[in-house]
Amino acid sequence: MVHQVESKHIGIIGTGYVGLVTGACFAEVGHKVICQDCDERKISILKSGGMPIYEPHLEDLVKKNVGEGSLSFTSELKELISSSEIIFICVGTPPLENGEADLSAVENVTRHIAEESTAYKLIVEKSTVPVQTGIWIKRTLNIYKSTNAHFDVASNPEFLREGSAVEDFLHPDRIVIGVENENTERILHDLYVPILSQSFPCPIHRDCSFHREVPLVVTDINSAELIKHVSNSFLATKISFINAVADICERAEADVTKVAYGVGLDHRIGKDFLNAGIGFGGFCFPKDLQAFIRIAEKLGYDFALLKEVEKINESRMDLILNKLKDYLWIIKGKTIGILGLSFKPNTDDIRFAPSLKIIERLQNEGAILKAYDPKAIDKARGVIPDIVYCNDPFEVAKDSEALLLLTEWEEFRNLDFEKIKTCVRRRLVVDGRNMLDKQKMQELGFEYVGIGR
Ligand code: UDX
Repeated sequence: MVHQVESKHIGIIGTGYVGLVTGACFAEVGHKVICQDCDERKISILKSGGMPIYEPHLEDLVKKNVGEGSLSFTSELKELISSSEIIFICVGTPPLENGEADLSAVENVTRHIAEESTAYKLIVEKSTVPVQTGIWIKRTLNIYKSTNAHFDVASNPEFLREGSAVEDFLHPDRIVIGVENENTERILHDLYVPILSQSFPCPIHRDCSFHREVPLVVTDINSAELIKHVSNSFLATKISFINAVADICERAEADVTKVAYGVGLDHRIGKDFLNAGIGFGGFCFPKDLQAFIRIAEKLGYDFALLKEVEKINESRMDLILNKLKDYLWIIKGKTIGILGLSFKPNTDDIRFAPSLKIIERLQNEGAILKAYDPKAIDKARGVIPDIVYCNDPFEVAKDSEALLLLTEWEEFRNLDFEKIKTCVRRRLVVDGRNMLDKQKMQELGFEYVGIGR
């Protein structure tokens, strides 16, 4: 059943992975959305029908809703503020040197909203922010507001995974809102009704009947802000836990993929995020973990557990280098092929990708590096200009003394290793994501090196 949506005028500040997906999806379910970014290059790309980022389904969603007049872009914050009754703050909160989140962009846009607003507005923080940021947003709005403006503030954290962000927005496990009064709760509830009831014609799935109703979690602002950091930190903890178990499996001659399978069948544990490998990267886990540790510290709690999660993740780099040295002895002067640069498959994002640290370590050892990635080469070229980028895995394999699989892109799973065999100088594959069939690789005559198996 399709609910008649009461269309709202929504402003999205920040058109990165979170802002652009949020804007396009809100427009898709019936609202009128204007997105703003201070990066005029991004806005001009969007206005000319281009996409500044790659996310499955996003381009179609943006094009369709721009065409229907329910989604527009501007670089002028004033224009967004004057035309929006609900404003989502989706600006970046990158890590500072000391690991704390840099909230200067959040503070800056909050000040502008206060100064430019002349009526009631609901200000919603969607960027990942430290707990108690909502209090600062409220204070800033009250200090800088013009006479007849008044505000409510809410927290509405995002749980979007890169590579499936549109799917995660339209079919979430839960929607969390941190509010201070019933009016705010009602406004946000009404905004999300189509998604809560899963009653919109889904642009991704032909049949959406399998999607059940979505729970709405209503809390105070502080608790909503914490739900985000606790969720990401717990997921990162799961990953480091299975990576520590992988280290034990190597010593016990056990297979971590089998251990993870047996453990994950326990419904209280679950199979997801139990894939051992070269660890977590991306613009969320590493920075959210650091930020949470710093938040705890400022609140007087030493989060030693999360510090250990970080330490285990960082130790994956040494693990890979040591494995390579166990087989190659000397790395200097050796040609090493890298398959996969993005921090995970189905995204072009290389921010905080384990591949970057591994490449840096190999360069320091004097390796000659070649790399291929289905989507991330353009972004990688800007960060690591001095390696050879190839058009396909076979070019990478040519004359390589070792092949490093660092991102589990589906196209690597069934690669023609018979052909790869004829290209490489040595049949050595280090499978950083335990993606390949160990037995099949060994039968093909490869020295196969996995993680924890
Ligand atoms: C994450 C959270 O999942 C999402 O809810 C939040 O909103 C943003 O941060 P994302 O960073 O896009 O999403 O990627 P995710 O799929 O969580 O993977 C993060 C990293 O963990 C990747 O580098 C991935 O390779 C790694 N990972 C994931 C593992 O090493 N093992 C696993 O089992 C799962």
